[in-house]
Amino acid sequence: MKRLAIIGPGKVGRTLARLFHDAGVFEIRALVSRSAETAAEAAAFIGAGQVNGDPADADIILMAVPDPELAQALARLALCDLKPGTIIAHTSGALGPEVFAPLAGLPVRCACAHPVKAFSDPARSVGTFAGTMTTLQGVTPACDELREAFAAIGGKTLVLADDTDRTLYHAAIVFMANHLPTLVQAGLETFEQVGLSREDGLAISGPILRDTLEAVLERGPAAALTGPVARGDAETVSRHLESLNAIDGDLGALYAALARATADLSAEKGEASVEGLLAIRELTTPKT
Ligand SMILES: NC(=O)c1ccc[n+]([C@@H]2O[C@H](COP(=O)([O-])OP(=O)(O)OC[C@H]3O[C@@H](n4cnc5c(N)ncnc54)[C@H](OP(=O)(O)O)[C@@H]3O)[C@@H](O)[C@H]2O)c1
Repeated sequence: MKRLAIIGPGKVGRTLARLFHDAGVFEIRALVSRSAETAAEAAAFIGAGQVNGDPADADIILMAVPDPELAQALARLALCDLKPGTIIAHTSGALGPEVFAPLAGLPVRCACAHPVKAFSDPARSVGTFAGTMTTLQGVTPACDELREAFAAIGGKTLVLADDTDRTLYHAAIVFMANHLPTLVQAGLETFEQVGLSREDGLAISGPILRDTLEAVLERGPAAALTGPVARGDAETVSRHLESLNAIDGDLGALYAALARATADLSAEKGEASVEGLLAIRELTTPKT
């Protein structure tokens, strides 16, 4: 069985190591973190691993340190006596293959392996990992081996082109996955203004949120769009803006920015009148 070392056995590192261990994909070896306490906690969670052991004896080294630490951690790794053919992978979304520069010239194979999932709680993440997409970017032999490993723990993989702009790639995920909770929070704050508790707010919006998300995933954003903007109803949008701005200018500005983008999406859908959509664009254009 191939041997896996984790540098940075935090939320992502320990979750993946536990999955690989439980599925018998890799033998878990060194768990390297800044504090021995973190590595020991990870070893207990994974059920295997050597606290701050030597990563150089592994066949695959997975770097899951915070992004600002990655370049230095790779520079330190380059000084180790790495075996020829060792696969070095990192799990960052925002950083790409360029961070492997300190390893240039060494006989190792590098790839980015970004699991597109929110790993807030490792115990939960282990149970919900199946079906997660991990994007790969790097040399083909490393991507091939990682694809097999992720498939063995129920994951999916997609190889990104060598010249993928990681900043934009990452921004796309942030748009969808991180800004959705912010939208829900804005809705709950607005509900609170009419005396609805967070609990009632979530009870009201839960079914329509789930249904809309399913429709977006099945049919695409334009086809799934409904509501006043999609109907070109500028009068309703104007009243919403007036009321929201009276409560909180930031909430009004957020609604306006989204309504403007939704007007563009509605134009693509083609059901609203052009006049209505132009009026919405006018209403929602920031006044300088
Ligand atoms: N969390 C997510 O949802 C998620 C999703 C996809 C990708 N990612 C990416 O995965 C990577 C790890 O994220 P995370 O959320 O798992 O971070 P995390 O929970 O904060 O864990 C980071 C780990 O790295 C260790 N560490 C920090 N600096 C180190 C260094 N210089 N050398 C060795 N170990 C070091 C920490 O140990 P100490 O406690 O000892 O400092 C900790 O074990 C990041 O690149 C992140 O962008 C995160």
